[in-house]
Formats: sequence, C-alpha cells, structure tokens
Amino acid sequence: MSEVKFTINYEEFASAAEMLPEDQELVKMAIEAQKGSYSPYSDFQVGAALRLTNGVIVKGANQENIAYPSGLCAERSAMFWAGANYPDVPMDTLAIAGSDHGVLCESPASPCGACRQVMAEYQKKHKRPLKIILIGSKRIRKFKCVDDLLPFIFDSLTI
Ligand code: THU
Repeated sequence: MSEVKFTINYEEFASAAEMLPEDQELVKMAIEAQKGSYSPYSDFQVGAALRLTNGVIVKGANQENIAYPSGLCAERSAMFWAGANYPDVPMDTLAIAGSDHGVLCESPASPCGACRQVMAEYQKKHKRPLKIILIGSKRIRKFKCVDDLLPFIFDSLTI
C-alpha cells in the first residue's frame, strides 16, 4: 500500500480587474446571463458564458421545473446550445456566476458533478482543454482544464 497525494491547480483573483481582458468580458457576460435564470423554486440564479474558439460567446442560465429533475443547470444549457449550434467549434472558456436570492455569492458557486462530466465530454470531443472561471463577489477562480475540477474523470484524456 502507498499513500498518494493528488494536486489540483487553479488561479485565484480578488476581482475581475486582475484578469485578462477577454476573461473580464466573460465574467461580465456570465453575471449578465443570470438575468435569464428561471428559478422560482430555489431562488438561486446561475448564469454561464461560454466562449468558443471562433470568438462567439454563448450564454446560459438555470431553468427549473415543477417536476424538479426536468430542470437544467446554467452550464449545461450553454454547453448543449453550443454543442447543437456549433458542433464543430471547440469550446475555449466557460465562466459561471451564482446568486442566492439575487445576491452574487461571495465564494464562487461550484458546478455540480453532472455539469463537470458534460464539460469533460466536450474536452474529449474537441481534444482541447476547456478553461473554467468560477465567479464570486470576493474571489474568482480560474481552472486551466476540467481535470482540475473533476479528478479521475471517467474516460479521462491526458491533456
Ligand atoms: N445550478 C446550476 O445552474 N449549476 C450548477 O452547477 C449547480 C446548480 C442550479 C440548479 C438549480 O436551478 C439551482 O442552481 C439550485 O440548485
């Protein structure tokens, strides 16, 4: 038996002002995208902004349903729309912002397991790392690829 340590890497920013201009734009758009949230049951508004390698930015927001499992997270709504409309264009960066009762969370809301697995699938499809930005009002985290958010990904690629 041997004990093994697993390291994940990410960058942390105190605010968007410290980030690259293109990331600042995506942060702004993810926050804006929260306006499209339909969340009468949780009152938790999630917005996502997904930049494709052709420069197009796709927005998504969580959509809830009275039959709970029929709803969809913001991240997947953006990724599935991009997957359906730009099937051959790789995804570059996905920014996510979550607000509780309309107030942006201090610490970034973190994507659920199902969304992480979907991110992993598009990385695999396009053979390209998907960068992820998680936005909070007190700190913003940036991950260079999904592997740092989902260690031991099912069917993981070594990127
Ligand atoms: N939600 C997202 O949109 N993304 C996530 O990664 C986690 C949760 C949504 C689902 C539901 O509409 C609300 O947030 C509360 O769980």
